[in-house]
Amino acid sequence: MARGHLRVSLVLVLLLVLAWLSASSVQRLYYLFRLPFVWTESSAQATISQHHDNFDLTFSSFPANYSTEDAGLHPVIPAKLHHIHLGPNAPPSEWMTARADCLKHHDSWEFFLWNDTNAPQFVEKNYPHLYDMWENYPFMVQRIDALRYMALEKYGGAVLDFDLACKRSLEPLRQFDFVAPAAHPTGFSIGMMLASPNNTFVRSLIESLSMFNHIWPLLPYVTVMFSTGCHYASTVYTLQTNRSSIRILSGPSDNPNLHMLNGFVDTPLFRHLGSSSWHTKDARLILLLKDAQPKLIFIAVVITFGVLALLLWCARFTRHRFSTRDVESNLKNPSFKPLFKYT
Ligand SMILES: *[C@@H]1O[C@H](CO)[C@@H](O)[C@H](O)[C@H]1NC(C)=O
Ligand SMILES: *[C@@H]1O[C@H](CO)[C@@H](O)[C@H](O)[C@H]1NC(C)=O
Ligand SMILES: *[C@@H]1O[C@H](CO)[C@@H](O)[C@H](O)[C@H]1NC(C)=O
Repeated sequence: MARGHLRVSLVLVLLLVLAWLSASSVQRLYYLFRLPFVWTESSAQATISQHHDNFDLTFSSFPANYSTEDAGLHPVIPAKLHHIHLGPNAPPSEWMTARADCLKHHDSWEFFLWNDTNAPQFVEKNYPHLYDMWENYPFMVQRIDALRYMALEKYGGAVLDFDLACKRSLEPLRQFDFVAPAAHPTGFSIGMMLASPNNTFVRSLIESLSMFNHIWPLLPYVTVMFSTGCHYASTVYTLQTNRSSIRILSGPSDNPNLHMLNGFVDTPLFRHLGSSSWHTKDARLILLLKDAQPKLIFIAVVITFGVLALLLWCARFTRHRFSTRDVESNLKNPSFKPLFKYT
């Protein structure tokens, strides 16, 4: 009896999951989940190195006043520095100090500070077809991430997380077409990105936003990572047919994590105030949840209750089949078969 009911309920749950997924979501899931398996191979050529690019990954040989142009290299990336801060709260003072350090090291660059006034205007004017989606993202981080790509496509330059304090100029990287630091364990980080304007890859990052715009109920972190964040961007990277101009800033082979921005770090380029970074602090995630659409919260509540009801229902049958003593003696019995065996 119980086993039959269990089977029916499992089939029902499976059908619901399948209904929730459509053909396009299956494809999207495939792309997202295969990333860890294809990353190493697909990024092998992209890694900037001393050997192939004659580039000093420690940056120690670049003088503070180094100029790409004077070095005889054509600067492809314009001297523009973007920071984004959305939301009702003013940036914490340590973030303002971090940004001030960056401005100081790039004093001849043009600075952009995207906020709640100019960001929506910019998106509406330049990406009218994406404006509704952008405006309705349940998480502020998604709006910030999507805006990184849009500002980069339109203006080019460097976009930096607010919690990165520059230790030196990013000037030497201007010779490349697109640069982002390697992340752990796969992909690249979007906390720092440099790109030429109208870059093909950056355009692809913007055009793919709609396809990957999907809410994972109860999983805000996954929702952000898979729809706009580092995992999304790295996945879109693996889908590019021509990756020759997309470059990853990693370390030399004996120190591959040299430029990694996860958590509190001190790299040749930055001090990262990891404590304030949203993905390392749950408190900030909870703050973000306050921004969630009521619909999303409703779906999450319905699913939570559904799962709880299912668990209680299964537990009821477990109790019907065995008394507690039976269960205990069964557990000691080596021939004990698990109750839930679907064959
Ligand atoms: C950079 O500074 C050094 C001295 O610190 C100076 O000799 C050199 O000419 C400067 N280079 C440029 C391109 O300004
Ligand atoms: C955004 O920045 C502009 C200046 O660039 C300023 O006039 C405006 O008040 C700012 N808006 C908010 C919401 O801070
Ligand atoms: C790939 O892109 C680079 C520059 O972005 C270009 O020079 C090269 O010809 C492209 N390769 C192919 C096969 O299209």
